Amino acid sequence: MQQHRRYLMCRPEHFTVTYSINPWMEPAKPTDTAKAVAQWQTLYDTYLSLGHEVELIDPIPGLPDMVYTANGGFVIDGVAYGARFRFPERAPEGPAFMEWFGAQGFDVVDPVEVNEGEGDFLLVGDTILAGTGFRSTGDSHRELRDVFGKEVVSLTLTDPRFYHLDTAISVLDPVEGPGGVERANIAYLPGAFDAESRRVLAERYPDAIQVADADGAVFGLNSASDGRNVIISPRATGFEAQLRERGYTPIMIDLSELLLGGGGIKCCTLELRGAGS
Ligand code: ARG
Repeated sequence: MQQHRRYLMCRPEHFTVTYSINPWMEPAKPTDTAKAVAQWQTLYDTYLSLGHEVELIDPIPGLPDMVYTANGGFVIDGVAYGARFRFPERAPEGPAFMEWFGAQGFDVVDPVEVNEGEGDFLLVGDTILAGTGFRSTGDSHRELRDVFGKEVVSLTLTDPRFYHLDTAISVLDPVEGPGGVERANIAYLPGAFDAESRRVLAERYPDAIQVADADGAVFGLNSASDGRNVIISPRATGFEAQLRERGYTPIMIDLSELLLGGGGIKCCTLELRGAGS
């Protein structure tokens, strides 16, 4: 069943790679900002054509990673838990996003702990899956639980290529239906996690799609689902077939230029849940 979505995006007008804070970023490699904008525009247009709403935050010169709005915070029921970035290069983005949330009428929670928003926190049904290992700290998982009063399940990432949880897990059916959680399933890359996290995932999501390494390695899991349409990288052909088998409609969008910064479809998309004007 397709669910309505409201997203926050940021046009990559200042996109480039001038520093390296993940293994995908090579400042010596040239980037093409116009191409990044054109690819991003395709994603934006696709959301609109599916009937979703997309809000925009103004890009700030000197903050090339701001296009990855998923890291700007985590929003449920009109409450926006702000981000506190691990690396100084992205630190100014935290307050910039919080200012935007405040101006839009969200209740903003200024974070104490280091956390990178929806990059590491994923709402599945009524549970928050929270990643740690590279960016967000375990302490932020406790803070998250206090802020939202929901169950938080900590998962540990171990492969530096998959440094945010949204590079290793794709939430396929995130939201509750009228009768509670009707279906809340995920796809994930087992190899991105430590043994205990793999055990937890297998136990909680016996019907999950387990994605092959080849699809994970092309950022296949960094995707956005509305419960029916799942926007994925065109390179994740195995994942595409798995989605079709399960009755989803995969839509392929190529963000190759944004992958030079170590981000993909989900990274460019922050879900705005509830309130805000
Ligand atoms: N260059 C950015 C960083 O390393 C990419 C962020 C990708 N975002 C995401 N949600 N996975 O922080």
